Amino acid sequence: GDVAVLVPAAGAGVRLGPGRPKALRLLAGEPLLVHAVRRLAAAASVHTIVVAAPAAEVAGVRELLAPVAPVIVVPGGAERQASVAAALAAVPAGPTIILVHDAARALTPPELVESVAAAVRDGRAAVIPVLPVVDTIKEVDADEVVLGTVDRAALRAVQTPQGFRRSVLTAAHAAAGDPLTDDAGLVEKQGVAVSCVPGSEYALKITRPFDLALAEHLLAADG
Ligand code: CTP
Ligand code: MG
Repeated sequence: GDVAVLVPAAGAGVRLGPGRPKALRLLAGEPLLVHAVRRLAAAASVHTIVVAAPAAEVAGVRELLAPVAPVIVVPGGAERQASVAAALAAVPAGPTIILVHDAARALTPPELVESVAAAVRDGRAAVIPVLPVVDTIKEVDADEVVLGTVDRAALRAVQTPQGFRRSVLTAAHAAAGDPLTDDAGLVEKQGVAVSCVPGSEYALKITRPFDLALAEHLLAADG
């Protein structure tokens, strides 16, 4: 395997409601992070997994993941970008492709991991999985009055894993300014082209209680 995957998992999960940090919340009896790491480890290209855990949970996360896959666990930061930077700093020499994958996208299929990695291996500097936007999108003002309708044909909803040539991600993080919600955004700021590949509906980000309920149903239906 030539791929290292960074797994930001240090978020609180405020939008999911009160409870443990989101990566440790249960889905079908197991933490979201366990589901996510198991699927990453099932992708043949993946050599190294580095998890950025909530700072108070590092030891517990090491124990939790030991039976799932060999992983490196580091404390995350206050923003997602800081968590990714901490994980990136812990990647050993070797892997030439780095993927960044949200623990919250717990049902992401190994096939999507492989397709993103393959696109980077084929020569793309940065690759993101995307889906078309299905809803009509309006731009509104501060009073929720519509300013206009955006042409959704040119829009994409972005998922993870996002994949990068290692040197590209390292340079983008070294130059990073204000925190962004994804890593491709940092690479874009460096003027590097970011390519899209088809995403997966199973790579939905579990954000609100509805998403967790949906994930429970998807798992139950898949057996
Ligand atoms: N994340 C992280 N470190 C942070 C914030 C977020 O590693 N300081 C991770 C989350 O654990 C998650 C991913 O980034 O796997 C995407 O973030 P999000 O879905 O926003 O998760 P949370 O920040 O936990 O949720 P919320 O914003 O509702 O609190
Ligand atoms: Mg968040």
